[in-house]
Amino acid sequence: MESTLSARDRVGVQDFLLLENYTSEAAFIENLRRRYKENLIYTYIGSVLVSVNPYKELEIYSKQHMERYRGVNFYEISPHIFALADNSYRAVRTERRDQCILISGESGAGKTEASKKILQYYTTMCPTRHNTHYIRERLLQSNPVLEAFGNAKTLRNDNSSRFGKYMDVQFDYKGAPIGGHIINYLLEKSRVVHQNHGERSFHIFYQLLESGDNSLLTRLGLQKTNPQHYHYLVKVCVCVNLKVYFSFVCFCERTFELLKVVASVLHLGNMQFGVDEFEETHVTTDTQLKYLAELLGVAGSALSEALTHKKLVAKGEEMISPLNLDQVLSARDALAKAIYGRTFTWLVQKINQSLVYYTSKCSSVIGLLDIYGFEVFQQNSFEQFCINYCNEKLQQLFIELTLKSEQEEYEAEGIGWETVEYFNNKIICDLVEEKFRGIIAILDEECLRPGDASDITFLEKLEDTLGGHAHFVTHKLANGKTRKAVGREEFRLLHYAGEVNYNVTGFLDKNNDLLYRNLKEVMCQSGNQIVKQCFHPDELIDQRRPETAATQFKLSLAGLMDILILKEPSYMRCIKPNNGKQPGQFEEVLIRHQVKYLGLMENLRVRRAGFAYRRSFEAFLQRYKPLCPDTWPNWRGQLLDGVSTLVKHLNYKPEEYRLGRTKIFIRFPKTLFLTEDALEIRKKTIAITLQKCWRGYRERNMTLFKVIMIQSWWRGVKGRRRARHRRQAADTIRMFIKGFILRNEPRCPGNEYFLDHVRFSYLMTIKRNLPKSVLDKAWPRPPPSLTEASAYLHHLCIRNLVNDYCRKVQPEWRNQLEQKVVASDMFKGQKDNYPQSVPRLFVGTRLGNNEEINLKVLQTLGSDNKYGVAVTKYDRHGYRARPRQLLLTASTAVLVQESKVKQRIDYTSLLGVSVSCHSDGFFVLHLPPATSKQKGDLVLQCDHVIETVTKLAIMAEKIHNINISQDSIKFALARGKEGVIDFTPGAELRVIKTKNGHLAVMAPRISSSV
Ligand SMILES: Nc1ncnc2c1ncn2[C@@H]1O[C@H](COP(=O)(O)OP(=O)(O)OP(=O)(O)O)[C@@H](O)[C@H]1O
Ligand SMILES: [Mg+2]
Repeated sequence: MESTLSARDRVGVQDFLLLENYTSEAAFIENLRRRYKENLIYTYIGSVLVSVNPYKELEIYSKQHMERYRGVNFYEISPHIFALADNSYRAVRTERRDQCILISGESGAGKTEASKKILQYYTTMCPTRHNTHYIRERLLQSNPVLEAFGNAKTLRNDNSSRFGKYMDVQFDYKGAPIGGHIINYLLEKSRVVHQNHGERSFHIFYQLLESGDNSLLTRLGLQKTNPQHYHYLVKVCVCVNLKVYFSFVCFCERTFELLKVVASVLHLGNMQFGVDEFEETHVTTDTQLKYLAELLGVAGSALSEALTHKKLVAKGEEMISPLNLDQVLSARDALAKAIYGRTFTWLVQKINQSLVYYTSKCSSVIGLLDIYGFEVFQQNSFEQFCINYCNEKLQQLFIELTLKSEQEEYEAEGIGWETVEYFNNKIICDLVEEKFRGIIAILDEECLRPGDASDITFLEKLEDTLGGHAHFVTHKLANGKTRKAVGREEFRLLHYAGEVNYNVTGFLDKNNDLLYRNLKEVMCQSGNQIVKQCFHPDELIDQRRPETAATQFKLSLAGLMDILILKEPSYMRCIKPNNGKQPGQFEEVLIRHQVKYLGLMENLRVRRAGFAYRRSFEAFLQRYKPLCPDTWPNWRGQLLDGVSTLVKHLNYKPEEYRLGRTKIFIRFPKTLFLTEDALEIRKKTIAITLQKCWRGYRERNMTLFKVIMIQSWWRGVKGRRRARHRRQAADTIRMFIKGFILRNEPRCPGNEYFLDHVRFSYLMTIKRNLPKSVLDKAWPRPPPSLTEASAYLHHLCIRNLVNDYCRKVQPEWRNQLEQKVVASDMFKGQKDNYPQSVPRLFVGTRLGNNEEINLKVLQTLGSDNKYGVAVTKYDRHGYRARPRQLLLTASTAVLVQESKVKQRIDYTSLLGVSVSCHSDGFFVLHLPPATSKQKGDLVLQCDHVIETVTKLAIMAEKIHNINISQDSIKFALARGKEGVIDFTPGAELRVIKTKNGHLAVMAPRISSSV
């Protein structure tokens, strides 16, 4: 920034408002010169940006430069077109107000370049939406296409826009470019058929001839020769890649059709005509006609006929009359102009279709107006008249929006205002456009009126009507000095920007812009899709005369003014520093002229007298209320009081601001910037507070939400679980009941659950109530279906217990039990005193070896003695009872009387043993009779008969030879005799010999069952 004084001396001030001598034009131009020398091409007048064409590439348009200007206050940083662009963009984003940037200046001053730079800024710096990123490319790529068709080299500018362009760039609420729309104004069609010396036609013709490959040119009937081969062209242009132009704008499929139209214009220019002996004009270049017919998709003969004849419709009747050579040539040119002009409009429409334009309220637009600047040539014609009229209108708008409205506003607000003299060009606008009396109205009238109207009659009419007007002069009307400067066929307008002489020649024709009906008819039948769309048959039906060119232009300008007036304008005034397109050349006269006609001095004077910023109380308070605790967050009182409180809090000095009736006016930009800066800082704190609150709120909500979520989830789980349980329970009950009903049926799906349940519960009952010992007879009662299983289980269980018991039994005890089992087998239920013997243990022997058995006997028997018991032996004769000892060894039973072994009975010779079923202790050992020594069977009695007999049976292995007799036992006596023992029950044990020689034994009964 040029902040220091020394810097300011060198490079001047960056805002003309800071000029000491702001009324001096010289000081103004000197400031411009200084800055231009230092390559500082941009300077402000308040918010208006003045630019001087550098005619060289400057390193000030890079992405880094764009970054520097993003979001920065207008005056904080050196003036730049990006600052202007960013300022409008921020207004769109923050205040959602539509903006427009009006770029004006004379031809070659840099308007188009400026509009491109602005577009570049938006497409580079603005955020993009995923689905509209292609819009950026299309916005950028629309320029080269339009320039190819609408720009041409002129004496003033090698790339002069020969049409006016207003482009809306549309942004969504986030500031992303989402669409666009282009309106074109008055293309200089006459350039198609004629160019001034040193100028050229539209770029596309040269680009086609130079860049089109041979096959393309052959298809179009063209040759890659010097363009001068084509009558409508001069000189060659630079080479361009045609495909690049068309690739982005979505009409690729029509590219060839488009080039056919371009080629057809060239062929039209080369059409030649001759006059035959009947004075009739005809086409002499059949090849051109053939090409034309092919390219335009029309019948050659029809085209030839239409070019050389004129069709008039009068009172419903068609009349065809031949045209003379001049008329034919002008008809041909008119057709060429019409085709090209309409195709250009079609092209703009196509670009618009590819750009998309939303009518939603959520979007805002920035309009870019790049329209031809004020033009003064040696010879000025209808086109210059229109262009300069357009500039008058824009100046009028500028006056409306800035100077006049500013002054009116101050008055309305009751703010002191130092009146600034300025020229209001409304008078000139009226001169041109006024109804009935304006130049356009008079021109239209001349075009329409019957009779011999001509350009000269038009001039005369102007003189008649406008003679005496302060801004209108003709040769006839002028005084001596001026008269010399105005030709006889000219009229002079004193524009706000300067005086311009217009030659009326061709005004009527150009205004009529006539295309004969039969030519239109032929075009309507064209097979070329573009031409077909450009010439609509409705045109032929419509009997009304079409609007003249001037009126059309007037109406489109009025439309443009309507668009612009609704938007907040920013201005860029472009200055051309020299006519030679040379960098560094600062031609003062030329620049002074532009400073004058751009109204820059006036602009400066007004800005210095007024205030830099104004806003309604409401908007001001709304925006800056966070800066004062009394107005934040809401001011409840009067708006004026609110604003007063706010500015007092902000320490505004009285000279810095005024409070009007509805608005606050701030004199210096600096004051506003300080306020903006404070707001920026405040915004951050507010944002942080809001963020905090929001996060807290969100967190709380989230936690609550989570808790509720978990609760509901858990309740859901529980509920589902409960429901499932209930369902299961109901199913179980149902199955149970059904099972209960069918419990006695064979197993089936209906009762299997019940039966399983019964089985399970019974098994569980068994498990809980298993017998603890072998003798425990208790066993749960089984359900009918399990009777068999239960018995089996019981059996298993007892066996188990027995097994267990057996495993735990000691050898002695085992021996005991084995003997008891044998005893049981033998005596259980057979002998009366058996039950009494059961609980009494069998002993190893009843006679102690050392005490009771004689030593001699023991020595005889050795250690073979296993069991000894005292017995009573009854003699075979007389049954005398004798005490004896019965000793059992491993192989013999020995009867001992003290020290004498009385009898040895070999177990093998023992035939059996008999006992009674009574409770007596008698037992008889039956011996074989054959042995000589045997004196018969042995009758013994013992107190431990069960034990003794059992041991004997085991040892002698005579378990199955034990007889239990009921009433008597017969036994053998010596020599084959037989003795009998009779057993009878009695009160007590008595043994007597009966008379019949029997031994009678009475024994008491112990058990009644036996
Ligand atoms: N900012 C710039 N930097 C470098 N060169 C520039 C700049 N602005 C303009 N020029 C040069 O000046 C030439 C003319 O500029 P431009 O075409 O923008 O003029 P214009 O005002 O649109 O004229 P016209 O009214 O004829 O269309 C450009 O081709 C370019 O060479
Ligand atoms: Mg231009």
